[in-house]
Amino acid sequence: MTEHSEQSPQTPEPAASDSGTDLTLIPVTGEREYTVTVGRGLSGTVRQAVGERASKILIVHSPTVGRFAEELREFLAPSYEQVLLAEVPDAESAKRIEVAAFCWEILGKSDFTRTDAIIGLGGGAVTDLAGFVAATWLRGVRLVQVPTSVLGMVDASVGGKTGINTTEGKNLVGAFYAPAAVICDLDLLATLPLNEIRAGFAEVAKCGFIAEPEILDLLEHELDATIDPGTPQFRRAIELAIGVKATIVSQDFREDGVREYLNYGHTLGHAVEHAERYQWRHGAAISVGMMFAAELGRITGALSDAEVERHRTILGSLTLPLQYPIGRWPGLLATMQRDKKARAGMLRFVVLDGIGKPGILAGTDDSLLFMAYQEIAN
Ligand code: GLY
Repeated sequence: MTEHSEQSPQTPEPAASDSGTDLTLIPVTGEREYTVTVGRGLSGTVRQAVGERASKILIVHSPTVGRFAEELREFLAPSYEQVLLAEVPDAESAKRIEVAAFCWEILGKSDFTRTDAIIGLGGGAVTDLAGFVAATWLRGVRLVQVPTSVLGMVDASVGGKTGINTTEGKNLVGAFYAPAAVICDLDLLATLPLNEIRAGFAEVAKCGFIAEPEILDLLEHELDATIDPGTPQFRRAIELAIGVKATIVSQDFREDGVREYLNYGHTLGHAVEHAERYQWRHGAAISVGMMFAAELGRITGALSDAEVERHRTILGSLTLPLQYPIGRWPGLLATMQRDKKARAGMLRFVVLDGIGKPGILAGTDDSLLFMAYQEIAN
């Protein structure tokens, strides 16, 4: 963890305009309204989103985006009294109480007030952490999320779930805390490794399966273009997936109802992540989880053979894993039963009644679950 700071005596400037750039604005409503902006070269949009009330900004970022963080700091510095950088570890290592305490310490030592702001710049783990720090400092300061991964753009940064992990499990401590804005600058994805993009597309495909078949068409017919961050097809797929998430969280911010559909593939997926000691990418684990959920949908009578095959073809074309060892079932079942996705002791799975038609299966007999697992076991 490292900290850098830069002070500027100047007062905030009027917000910059991104006029002339091609922006897509996706509204999110619920307890608080905000916009997800998709485009390229969006530093001015970030400054607009931070606004003129703040005099100090903390940019929480991972080491991998250190260059972007420094560029953003330099861009913002003339407009604010102080722009600080807090470099935190990559991935799940960011989501620890010690890392949150490191950020709180910077905020405290720099006298951040309730009108100051935090920017989360990084993948999903970093935006989860930055959101948690923003939610808890002085009971809530302005938060602007600037995701730098596919997963961060289409899932983690949108919807206001923030949190950290404990030794007992993932995301056990956190808050629902909506950001003031989410800025998805596609230029920040240009240097992402292809494997990272493919894993992120598991969440994009998930949005296709539960709500937006156009995403599936893009992946089936224009795969290479769709996973290339420079193309219009990529942008379209990302925007469609953000649209699915925005629509769902606008209806159900606190996950009392339809938000659970976003957990498609996640009940088993989280157990796989646990079994793999969090060394697998999230997208790889939920790919196995979606195959399991598809087989469960077929066994319980709702999903056709062709629709299950469509899952296999699309996730396989992204080179994501589709199978898991047969001998791991008892451990996976035990983990799922402990997971917070079980309610009142009953396991809950999102299953499809057809593409774009999610529903919940609860209290399913273990023998049926094992039957579905056998279909994906190797
Ligand atoms: N990642 C699922 C949700 O935000 O509800």
